[in-house]
Amino acid sequence: MIISINNINKSYKVAGEKINVIDNLSLELERGEIIAITGRSGCGKTTLLNIITGITKPDNGTISFREKKLKYWSDFSMSRIRNREIGQIFQTFRLLDDETVMTNVMMPARIRGNAGSAVRNYAIEILGKAGIAEYQNTRAGLLSGGQKQRVAIARALVNRPSLILADEPDANLDGETSMEIFTLLEMLKREGKSIIIVTHKDYMLKKADRTYKMEKGSLREL
Ligand SMILES: Nc1ncnc2c1ncn2[C@@H]1O[C@H](COP(=O)(O)OP(=O)(O)OP(=O)(O)O)[C@@H](O)[C@H]1O
Ligand SMILES: [Mg+2]
Repeated sequence: MIISINNINKSYKVAGEKINVIDNLSLELERGEIIAITGRSGCGKTTLLNIITGITKPDNGTISFREKKLKYWSDFSMSRIRNREIGQIFQTFRLLDDETVMTNVMMPARIRGNAGSAVRNYAIEILGKAGIAEYQNTRAGLLSGGQKQRVAIARALVNRPSLILADEPDANLDGETSMEIFTLLEMLKREGKSIIIVTHKDYMLKKADRTYKMEKGSLREL
């Protein structure tokens, strides 16, 4: 088991009113599984991913990562897990546009304090798998959207995480490029990564190992 989410709740107070964004939600994910989550805007998908990474603290419930309970009271341990065990891919890529592709990909490794030549060689290998090795010295801001997302995927992989979280990674890409990005995620699945993808694309919902719709704060399997 890579991750086990048990009975988590999260509510926000908006204009004096309590809104349950996440309501008694549970989910388990095995090694090498892709699960897809869909649901209407504002239903809590990003909130769920932020709870997994520790950016947002749940009101209650527990999350275990490889059988170990996450310690939400410790920012240090949560940022360590986030840096080493979880790779994140976002809708808007979130690259440093003025830096080269290689600098972007190496950033999580530098934060970890492990950015030597072995990791650099690994970065070149994953840029190759993502089909953009020849751009390693190019400024990220010059790339197309699809190329930027490939850089973001390589960056998400550099610390060899076991879990990849992708929040609408194809929202800003055309249909064909979006399919290529999903094919890349499927390749990672075959390498044993576990992947949670938030998407509205039918073909991703069909091709995932399991698909959920988020509604009223919890997940319904489709
Ligand atoms: N810090 C916060 N304070 C108050 N309300 C919040 C906060 N963060 C999120 N919310 C509310 O929680 C709900 C869920 O937001 P979330 O971003 O998780 O939705 P989403 O499913 O990712 O939507 P989208 O598909 O548009 O990305 C929204 O109603 C949002 O306004
Ligand atoms: Mg969102």
